[in-house]
Amino acid sequence: MHPCLFVTEILLHIIGFLETSPEHHSTCHKGDVARLARTCRAFMDPALDVLWRTQCALGPLVKCLPGHLWTRGTCDEINLIGRPTSDDWLSLRRYSFRIRVFEPSWPGPVRLSGVGDDTLSAIFSPDVFHALFPALHTLNLEFLANKNALSLLDRVLSPRLLQLRFRLPRHLDPDNLYELLESITDRAPSLRVLKIDAYAHMPSSVLHLELGFGRVPRLRTLCFPNTLYVSPRSLLQPRQMQHLRVLSLTLTTDPVPALHHSGQPVFPVLQCMKITAHTLDQCCELLRITTSSQLGEVSMSYSSQASEAVMHTFLQEVGKAHGRSRDLHTLVLQHTFTISGPNLKPSVYSPSTFKPLLACHRLRILNIRDIGDLAIDDAFIANATLAWPRLEELRLRGLPWIDSHRTTVASLRELIRGCSRLARLSMAIDARALPEKNSAWRSSPVEELNVSDSTMEDPEAVERYLRAALPNLKTLIALDNLQCWRAVLRLEGVVGEE
Ligand SMILES: *[C@@H]1O[C@H](CO)[C@@H](O)[C@H](O)[C@H]1NC(C)=O
Ligand SMILES: *[C@@H]1O[C@H](CO)[C@@H](O)[C@H](O)[C@H]1NC(C)=O
Repeated sequence: MHPCLFVTEILLHIIGFLETSPEHHSTCHKGDVARLARTCRAFMDPALDVLWRTQCALGPLVKCLPGHLWTRGTCDEINLIGRPTSDDWLSLRRYSFRIRVFEPSWPGPVRLSGVGDDTLSAIFSPDVFHALFPALHTLNLEFLANKNALSLLDRVLSPRLLQLRFRLPRHLDPDNLYELLESITDRAPSLRVLKIDAYAHMPSSVLHLELGFGRVPRLRTLCFPNTLYVSPRSLLQPRQMQHLRVLSLTLTTDPVPALHHSGQPVFPVLQCMKITAHTLDQCCELLRITTSSQLGEVSMSYSSQASEAVMHTFLQEVGKAHGRSRDLHTLVLQHTFTISGPNLKPSVYSPSTFKPLLACHRLRILNIRDIGDLAIDDAFIANATLAWPRLEELRLRGLPWIDSHRTTVASLRELIRGCSRLARLSMAIDARALPEKNSAWRSSPVEELNVSDSTMEDPEAVERYLRAALPNLKTLIALDNLQCWRAVLRLEGVVGEE
């Protein structure tokens, strides 16, 4: 045997490649690795390690129990018969001690764990679980969708857990949820990743309480669903989030506390910030106190309309964050509007509102949606083209029912000439006048162009023109949603017949 194969790390790597090679569509395809484990003594241990380290079902493990202890159910799930003794369970240890990651694929078949509910519950009893899985550090319980899931989770929390992901059941008492979160921060203090998902149409729970994130000091990723509202105060306790890289959550309407005593940096290594808030002011404040020099992505969504002044201040903060950071490349800004009340008199944002963005030379993705009346014009776009040489995706959209386009085909031409990497562009334009000469815009990489809601006299001519000019165009979207929106607004009694 080649001497390098005596080095366990190298052997593990080689066998690992086999497991994840592209011919096997699922990482759960393990036949070859199992054969390798049987090939020779030297391969056995590393191959078994690779075979067992990531499990997407518990069925295979339970099937290692003596045959009289289990049976196959109607959905192919494995069920225990009777009660295995503790010796029976311990006999599984020679395989189970190798399991580090338990992560059923989602979405998938119903029986995702591969075992019946009672069997799952038996394995998730604290004695059995902790004895069987001393090396488990990643647990994904998203597949469990009932209330029961949370009690199972509560039983198996441990300081060994580094990554935890689960889904909130549809009906949940906020008190229970709060208790669970307390348990998690108390009993899984080493967590690096905490991701909680929720079903889309779930009643919201408001968590105003302090969440004790200080007890999970090494947290790197924190993602909460938008049905949980977290008070800004509880995010900004001292000695918290010093290692946080990814933050994705929804804030309560409470103001973000201004931190006067700047003894401790706030989010010093944050790379990705995705915040849903009530006002843009809250987003602005959070960005203002963030000290990270590694921020790459800022994604903000707010529901109360922002005035032009607030928008300008926010974009100034983006400019400052861009200055602090080596690599701020993505800005997503979305106003989640409702067709009622104050949105109907949308704020008008003049080109000067967006001037701070012209200092953000490293932007690759800029996506502004539904914020109000976006009064940008060809002159602004001409400057933007010079300011954003690395742009790959640009979406500039006001509220969908406002057609105050001041940009024309000239803007498209400027952008396409100036931003040589631009591949996706979405903007409403005034396309009534097409340039005479249809010169191809170099070898532009634009693949997707969305000119929905543009003003056109002859849509077919516009389409012909654009297709001829853009050699790599795959998708051209030119829906006119405007009439549709007008109709909706009329139904709501918001605008009269014209
Ligand atoms: C574009 O840049 C020029 C020169 O810097 C400046 O005078 C002008 O105001 C800018 N226009 C817009 C719309 O930002
Ligand atoms: C194109 O833009 C319109 C207006 O913003 C939007 O409603 C639509 O979803 C976009 N279409 C695609 C396919 O992105």
